[in-house]
Amino acid sequence: MANTTLVAPSLLAADFGHLAEGVRSAEEAGADWLHIDVMDGHFAPNISFGPKTVADIRPVSKLILDCHLMVSNPQDFIAPFAEAGADYFTFHIEAALHANRIIQQIKAAGMKPGICLVPSTPVVALEEVLAELDLVLVLLVNPGFGGQKTIPSCLEKLAKLASVRKEKGYHYLLSVDGGITADNASLAVTKGADVLVAGNTFFTASDKKGIVKKLKGN
Ligand code: DX5
Ligand code: ZN
Repeated sequence: MANTTLVAPSLLAADFGHLAEGVRSAEEAGADWLHIDVMDGHFAPNISFGPKTVADIRPVSKLILDCHLMVSNPQDFIAPFAEAGADYFTFHIEAALHANRIIQQIKAAGMKPGICLVPSTPVVALEEVLAELDLVLVLLVNPGFGGQKTIPSCLEKLAKLASVRKEKGYHYLLSVDGGITADNASLAVTKGADVLVAGNTFFTASDKKGIVKKLKGN
C-alpha cells in the first residue's frame, strides 16, 4: 500500500506529435508515474505505442514508466520493453496462457510485474498469482480508448483486492485506469486505489499542477 496516492498521467491522451512535451508536463505538474498504454490492434481495438516509444521517452524523464500492455502474446514483448527501460510491465490476464511463467520472466528481465483485469474479468482469476505481483491494474473501462466513462461496478474489485492483500500480507499496489476525474478520484481511493491513472483529465487540464493535487486529495 502506498503512503500517498500516486498519480499516473496516461500518455494516450497526450499530443503524439509532441510526446516529450507531454512527458515533461507530467513531471513538472508533480505526477509520480507515466502510464503508457500499449495496444496492438488485436487484443485492443486500437494501435498506440511500442517499445521504441518507451526507449525514446526514457531519457526525457525520471518518472516511473508504467507500461500497460493491452496486447496478445505479452510474453513476446518482455525483452523489448525491459531493454527500452520500462519499470512496470503490466499484462492482461485474459491474454496470458501461463501467467505464472510470464511473471517470472518479467522479474528476470528486471521489471516489476503487474496484471490487469478488463471489466468482465473477476478478481478470482488472479487468486493463484497475487502473491507474485507488484501491481494489480483494475481497468474501469473496456480497453482501447481514452475519454470513456468509468463503469462503477469495476470499483468494487478494489475492496476485494485490498482485503486479500491485507489478509495474506501481499504487497501489490492497486491502480485504477479509465474515466478517472477529480470527481470520482476520492471514491477510488476510498475503495483502495493507490495509483490513479488519468488520461483526459490530466492532459485537458489547463492547471496541471492543480489537477494532480486534486487527484491526490490535497
Ligand atoms: C484504456 C487505457 C487507459 C486510458 C485512460 O484502454 O488503458 O489508460 O488511457 O484514459 P482516460 O483517463 O482518458 O479514461
Ligand atoms: Zn492503461
